[in-house]
Amino acid sequence: MRIWLDGGLRDLESARISVLDHGLTVGDGVFETVKAVDGAPFALTRHLDRLTRSARGLGLPDPDHDEVRRACTAVLEADPVPLGRLRITYTGGHGPLGVGRGEHGPTLVVAVGETARRPDSTAAITVPWTRNERGALAGVKTTSYAENVVALARAHRHGASEALFGNTVGQLCEGTGSNVFVVLDGEIHTPPVTSGCLPGITRALVLEWTGARETDLPLDVLGRADEIFLTSTLRDVQALHRTDDRELPGAPGPVTAATMRIFAERSAEDLDP
Ligand SMILES: Cc1ncc(COP(=O)(O)O)c(C=O)c1O
Repeated sequence: MRIWLDGGLRDLESARISVLDHGLTVGDGVFETVKAVDGAPFALTRHLDRLTRSARGLGLPDPDHDEVRRACTAVLEADPVPLGRLRITYTGGHGPLGVGRGEHGPTLVVAVGETARRPDSTAAITVPWTRNERGALAGVKTTSYAENVVALARAHRHGASEALFGNTVGQLCEGTGSNVFVVLDGEIHTPPVTSGCLPGITRALVLEWTGARETDLPLDVLGRADEIFLTSTLRDVQALHRTDDRELPGAPGPVTAATMRIFAERSAEDLDP
């Protein structure tokens, strides 16, 4: 595995960052996960734009998009995989031990790993912890993901592959690494960004391509929606066949199946929509 670090490709063994990198000591960093199909990144322009928005959200300097593009190309050429997970990490860099940031400048790391196509349906649980839609990091894709680590581990203990959060006012929000959609009376709805969810790139494409609506939804909509699906970079559109104790037999249902089809067709037509 070859890693892009400090402007060039390195072997995994020699790619080293400071033990005082602010991303490590306090989670002061942002990231993107980008799907790569047959060596080509999908929706890279949208991912780079979100990386910049996230960096600005933390007060980090804007990342150099040309360098990140070069890094993605370099790691994909060094390690060709049929379906890849490109990981772009951009942190506050070497800094003091405390919360204040140093002067050293940011760290950029880009790596790719092989991944497998997800199943068409999966199970999710809800968790008792909340997303804070009024927090400083709402909608920012930071490396401070330990809350998601805890929630996902709980999902795995319950035989599920995702954990869904409500927000502080009891509305449906998102998963640890996915957005959530529900079908009600044949119409597709997803929580608005004001719910505190990450503005997912797959979510945005599904909104554009299907005419789905952004709607404030109570968390308990999961108990009565006709169909439920998740979206994310590596899940694309994935049906839920169980949420908590509720089975949704026949998932993917007709609306989800049509959405999966549209997403597959449109994303194959244009690699950078
Ligand atoms: C918290 C969270 N919500 C939603 C998503 C889905 O976003 P995207 O479709 O851009 O992968 C992610 C991404 O991985 C995420 O980390």
